[in-house]
Amino acid sequence: MVHPNISIIVAIAQNFAIGLNNDLLFHLPDDLKRFKKITTGKALIMGKRTFYSLPKAPLPNRRNIVITDIPGETFAGCESVNSIEEAVALVQNEPEAFIIGGGMIYRQFYPLAGKLYLTLVHKDLEADTYFPSIDFEEWRETAREDFYDEKNGFDYSYLDLVRK
Ligand SMILES: NC(=O)c1ccc[n+]([C@@H]2O[C@H](COP(=O)([O-])OP(=O)(O)OC[C@H]3O[C@@H](n4cnc5c(N)ncnc54)[C@H](OP(=O)(O)O)[C@@H]3O)[C@@H](O)[C@H]2O)c1
Repeated sequence: MVHPNISIIVAIAQNFAIGLNNDLLFHLPDDLKRFKKITTGKALIMGKRTFYSLPKAPLPNRRNIVITDIPGETFAGCESVNSIEEAVALVQNEPEAFIIGGGMIYRQFYPLAGKLYLTLVHKDLEADTYFPSIDFEEWRETAREDFYDEKNGFDYSYLDLVRK
């Protein structure tokens, strides 16, 4: 069942790569600014490994929810849950809640999410963590901006997609 108030935000390479050694694949300051602008004031849902990968956690001015398999495990400044269903229930009254990773969490939420906010790098990157393969036919583009980043030497786009 799709939850229209659940959105995924992810930075992804052409080959759906998203992470390596529990870190991101590139440093793109403008993308971090976009992430902050889109998610501030909102609820965020993340996997435990992503929580520990954040340079500064919890992310300020946002409701931080961490998914863990360990009952009773707590994370400073966060709410914790033990299942996807529990996370969905916690955000049912939120106008928009964001799934912020990582790979395990994206995989489980991909069929449930109504919107995707992609930072799409137009290049294959080496990774150990991937987003599920996206069938773009299933999504309608509502916004797109294209850029070139000199430092990283790649083209990238911001794409907002709504499930058809
Ligand atoms: N490119 C991007 O936009 C982006 C965004 C976020 C993260 N990432 C990258 O993604 C990588 C991390 O992803 P990951 O797949 O390794 O880890 P993850 O999805 O962040 O977290 C996995 C952990 O979440 C818990 N979990 C997952 N599903 C669960 C469920 N159904 N019920 C209870 N607990 C559950 C488990 O914790 P337990 O250990 O308690 O079992 C599991 O080990 C890093 O490289 C990170 O940098 C990339």
